[in-house]
Amino acid sequence: MDKDNKVIESDLAVLWRRRNEETTNGEGFCPSAALPLSFCNFCGNCRRVVPLHEPFDKSTSSRSFSSIFDNSKYGILQLNNGLARTPQMGWNSWNFFACNINETVIKETADALVSTGLADLGYAYVNIDDCWSSLERDSKGQLVPDPKTFPSGIKALADYVHAKGLKLGIYSDAGIFTCQVRPGSIYHERDDAELFASWGVDYLKYDNCYNLASNQKNGYSSSYPPMRNALNATGRTIFYSLCEWGVDDPALWAGKVGNSWRTTDDINDSWASMTTIADLNDKWAAYAGPGGWNDPDMLEVGNGGMTLEEYSAHFSIWALMKAPLLVGCDVRNITAETFEIIGNKEVIDINQDSLGIQGRKVHVSGKDGCRQVWAGPLSGHRLVVALWNRCSKAATITVGWEVLGLESSMSVSIRDLWKHEDLSGDAVASFGSLVASHDCGMYIFTPVSASRSAV
Ligand code: GLA
Repeated sequence: MDKDNKVIESDLAVLWRRRNEETTNGEGFCPSAALPLSFCNFCGNCRRVVPLHEPFDKSTSSRSFSSIFDNSKYGILQLNNGLARTPQMGWNSWNFFACNINETVIKETADALVSTGLADLGYAYVNIDDCWSSLERDSKGQLVPDPKTFPSGIKALADYVHAKGLKLGIYSDAGIFTCQVRPGSIYHERDDAELFASWGVDYLKYDNCYNLASNQKNGYSSSYPPMRNALNATGRTIFYSLCEWGVDDPALWAGKVGNSWRTTDDINDSWASMTTIADLNDKWAAYAGPGGWNDPDMLEVGNGGMTLEEYSAHFSIWALMKAPLLVGCDVRNITAETFEIIGNKEVIDINQDSLGIQGRKVHVSGKDGCRQVWAGPLSGHRLVVALWNRCSKAATITVGWEVLGLESSMSVSIRDLWKHEDLSGDAVASFGSLVASHDCGMYIFTPVSASRSAV
């Protein structure tokens, strides 16, 4: 039996073991236990698990392929509310507007997502971050939208956004207050989830400020499951985005709690922040998959603090890492250069690829490892390969097939996703390209023998 099949088999074994544990530990009875891919989730709900990753074609890959692109941790813990089959795409108010938000900004942003064509490219969620609510709950203990900035209320805004074919996201916090000291949702999970559902909210970002220390023990934050249960209980399908900043290594436990989990502290609009966060998120690659994604924070593309090369690298690597693609600039005033980056459909397609395996850093060379190769498997027996030059000068970066887990004799056809062209002639054994400082070349590699038996 080949190695790929062993990986799949061991995933299945884990799923079956967990299913059996959960049907016998009193958390819930699984009536569909006889179905081969049925699984009772943490709440005792029985649904189909998401499909396991398809194995890469063994005729094109070497023995080391599965260890290079290990995804064996994925699928062990799955929240299965049917969402996040691919990473979420949309916009969030925080990176550009911070607390300077109001209903007009949100509506105009929804309009702009549609008029620019970004909505058609998949940017569907319009997410309101912190500062939408009043400083206090009302006399009944309910959250209230700030009457000055959101006078029409959130339901009206959700109706507006839905009428455009988009979805509305909102923000709350697993502690006493949000980070900007609005009321948090701890001990109000049921009420707040019901309120969000009644407004027609489709997405909740759940932050970690003013959290109770007693809830953060043993490498696990127990503040997050109550909101998951409350959202489930509303009967509305609501994307649950954990913003726990990676404090308690959420990749290890958040798969059964939410649809994505922040793995790091906040990004800021700088090369140093973006590169640091990319490296931190890389560590958890084996834990991501359809249903639950590592979240290295929202995009800064278009906010002015990085060069176009740096923004293009930021977008390339976020797409390759299967990160949520949440635009963080003012899309009402988007420039052509920014649109060319976040509107690159070929790069978006990498992020949204159905195989759902997080790409990762596979090779470094040069001073401080600044010549980098990042790569990951794609559906159709293809690979995405990024040549990322983090050096201060232009450099030629070369990738050998052994780094990618391909047989060295394999012929590979190559498409350049930023130039939008197929390279002439197939490559064998290695491929190199001159990359400008801080820029990132991004390519799809299609092993020629695999393309003949295309999926
Ligand atoms: C935290 C989060 C950010 C943002 C702010 C809002 O810092 O990590 O993404 O939501 O709070 O206050």
